[in-house]
Amino acid sequence: MDSIVVGLQWGDEGKGKVVQKLSRSHKWIVRFSGGPNAGHTVYHGNTKMVHHLLPSGTNENFLFISRGTLVDLETLNSEIKEISKIYPDIKERLFVSPYCRVITPIEKWQDGAIEKTKGKNSVGTTGRGIGPTVSNDANRVGIRLFDLFDQNHLKEKVDLLAEISNFGDQSIADELLSQFEKIKDRVLDPKVEGQILFEGTQGIMLDPMYGTYPYVTSTPTIPSFAFYGSGLKSEKYEVWGVFKAYTTRVGSGPFPTEIFGEAGDDLRKRGSEFGATTGRPRRCGWIDLPQLEYASNISNVDHLVMTKADVLNGLEKVGVCISYDKKIIPYDLGSLKPTIEYVKGWKNLESSEFADFISAIEHHVRRRIKYVSYGPSEEEIFQR
Ligand code: GDP
Ligand code: IMO
Ligand code: MG
Repeated sequence: MDSIVVGLQWGDEGKGKVVQKLSRSHKWIVRFSGGPNAGHTVYHGNTKMVHHLLPSGTNENFLFISRGTLVDLETLNSEIKEISKIYPDIKERLFVSPYCRVITPIEKWQDGAIEKTKGKNSVGTTGRGIGPTVSNDANRVGIRLFDLFDQNHLKEKVDLLAEISNFGDQSIADELLSQFEKIKDRVLDPKVEGQILFEGTQGIMLDPMYGTYPYVTSTPTIPSFAFYGSGLKSEKYEVWGVFKAYTTRVGSGPFPTEIFGEAGDDLRKRGSEFGATTGRPRRCGWIDLPQLEYASNISNVDHLVMTKADVLNGLEKVGVCISYDKKIIPYDLGSLKPTIEYVKGWKNLESSEFADFISAIEHHVRRRIKYVSYGPSEEEIFQR
């Protein structure tokens, strides 16, 4: 069966680790959304690697960066260089769709400029040029990888984009072409046969249509986009929704269960909650059951996977948001009042208090937690 792995919160749920675990039973690992804003941490043996664009596969998978993904060629090439030390044959197993949108220095500059103009209303983007790449593409002035096969055509397109964007630097096309040269032979849509694992990025609450707009990313994060974004089909698939035993968020926007002050700092320290892409401290809060229920329903999740349960080991009490004063409306999340109950903490994951915590989540979300992850490495996970 094929699989789709998505994050059920605001990103950084541990999708990379879960994809690595599930990759063993799939042939292809396919990225279909997001871009280098994603940071998926994977341990290849003892070597830690943060995947921004490369799918989080093992040494046996075929990897496909499909058309829904935004590509920054410099990031991609440096990631290939890094991972080649572990898997020297990686390039032979990698395919990048020619339809992928290309992030240029123009979009990165636009991202910063828009954020600056927004001032106190800024989104807190990763600065990777995500929003402007999507909007330039929608305006039909964006660059796609296929444009780079023809130098003169590319130069014309870059000139137009620069003119429309009031961007002066003329050296962009040459820079893009020299990066493209290194990856050119892998830019093709492969024939995908065998079991596919679609690796989602960000989280449901960051989806531009179903999340906490305008504090969202710019490419869809919901499972149904796996098919539109990749161009692939699936006869039979299951959706895996990954969530942390608590909640984190990077950037601005509503976060009803956020913990401020020392308690928040403590959780951040326990969970090493610093962004894998930007290094920013992640905002930390308690688990939010109505939010998880909303995200699981929107994504039609079949199985839940809980990560970072170990981080809460030894806490005297653990907060759980059990309801809001009103029905969840993501764009209005900031105005809702959460009811937070405190349950007894647990010493370790064999404790009955942890079993009660699990049951409360399963009962509320009306789905089974199939895996519980208790550490960053691939082995630190158990099936229930
Ligand atoms: P992703 O973006 O969803 O792939 O998640 P990130 O890689 O951005 O953030 C998850 C962080 O938690 C990474 O540093 C992982 O190595 C780490 N991690 C994943 N699962 C677990 C777990 O079960 N326990 C602990 N302690 N760390 C974990
Ligand atoms: P992974 O795949 C957490 C957040 C940013 C910002 C908002 C918009 O590792 O879970 P963007 O640069 O996309 O325009 O920023 O989305 N964001 C993420 N937060 N994990 C991510 O990816 C994220 N990708 C984007 O912090 O609030
Ligand atoms: Mg991440």
